Amino acid sequence: MLTLGIETSCDETGLALYDTEAGLVGEALHSQVALHAAYGGVVPELASRDHIRRIVPLTRQALAASGRQLADIDLIAYTAGPGLAGALLVGAAFAQGLALALGRPAVGIHHLEGHLLSPLLARPAPDFPFIALLVSGGHTQLLRVDGVGRYALLGETADDAAGEAFDKTATLLGLPYPGGPALALEAARGNPRAYDFPRPLLASPGLDFSFSGLKTAVLHAVRGRPMGEQARADVAASFQAAVVDVLCGKCVRALEQEGLSRLVVAGGVGANQSLRSRLVDAARHRGGEVYFPPPRLCTDNGAMVAFAASLRFPRPPEGTGAFSVRPRWDLTSA
Ligand code: KG4
Ligand code: ZN
Repeated sequence: MLTLGIETSCDETGLALYDTEAGLVGEALHSQVALHAAYGGVVPELASRDHIRRIVPLTRQALAASGRQLADIDLIAYTAGPGLAGALLVGAAFAQGLALALGRPAVGIHHLEGHLLSPLLARPAPDFPFIALLVSGGHTQLLRVDGVGRYALLGETADDAAGEAFDKTATLLGLPYPGGPALALEAARGNPRAYDFPRPLLASPGLDFSFSGLKTAVLHAVRGRPMGEQARADVAASFQAAVVDVLCGKCVRALEQEGLSRLVVAGGVGANQSLRSRLVDAARHRGGEVYFPPPRLCTDNGAMVAFAASLRFPRPPEGTGAFSVRPRWDLTSA
């Protein structure tokens, strides 16, 4: 079965073809980072318009890379939410239009389910059950995953997402957009023990997170002080160490609480090298394993949408029809 995956929930237009037999056979991606950089964040209307401009050429590009034809597609999958309403509608409308033209079904996929299942594209792939840490710009969640579609929420952030904290702290430090990768780069030159930032909720029981206080602590540390090159790197390194400590501590707690040994990390912040190596060490220490998606699939892409759809719908459903998007959508109700 050949599935076309379409991702347009935020600022990446991602198209990919996943074949149940051959795996990922074609991928095409356009990032709107340059488009939004001048504004320091994603401008929803600009994002929607750019998705419209890119979606057809990217579909052609993914098809050309795969050596397949439009008529070979059995199932069309698009991100139906959560995300920016206008951006989601571009992918949904394109998918449904193509489905009608080809006489194939179109299905809406939960964006976080795409992230959550993408580590299964790596080799070796984890077996169920596992604990999943979902860390993106919009979400920070710990889930117990017992199978495809069987997700139990164990904990989540009460305020900012981890990626959002990276992005906001980067802005405070005058680093370029997007903040996460820029801050990680800066942190690599700094001393993680230079500033003693708080580890929010790490000492309290439970699996919830809170990152907004950490950003405020950074604000107090830098306000009114000249930020030389080294000081900036030290703040970045100390901030990153605090986030990594909290994420790592809560992952270990989730594994212990559920009596599991496999941890899967998904979402944009999963690209962070410091987080990766700390989680690998922590899991090995407990005799467990950590699984990451291939780095290019950590951030938003079409492959995770095509792959999640192929697992959810091993047999394409009948027909297409009315559709909607869900800018807000609880994963456990997906
Ligand atoms: O999953 P994703 O591409 O989009 C969302 O669905 O949010 O995640 C983007 C987030 C951004 O906040 C970005 O700053 C963060 O992931 N990110 C990183 C790194 N690469 C991306 N954060 C820390 N370190 C990184 N290397
Ligand atoms: Zn995402």
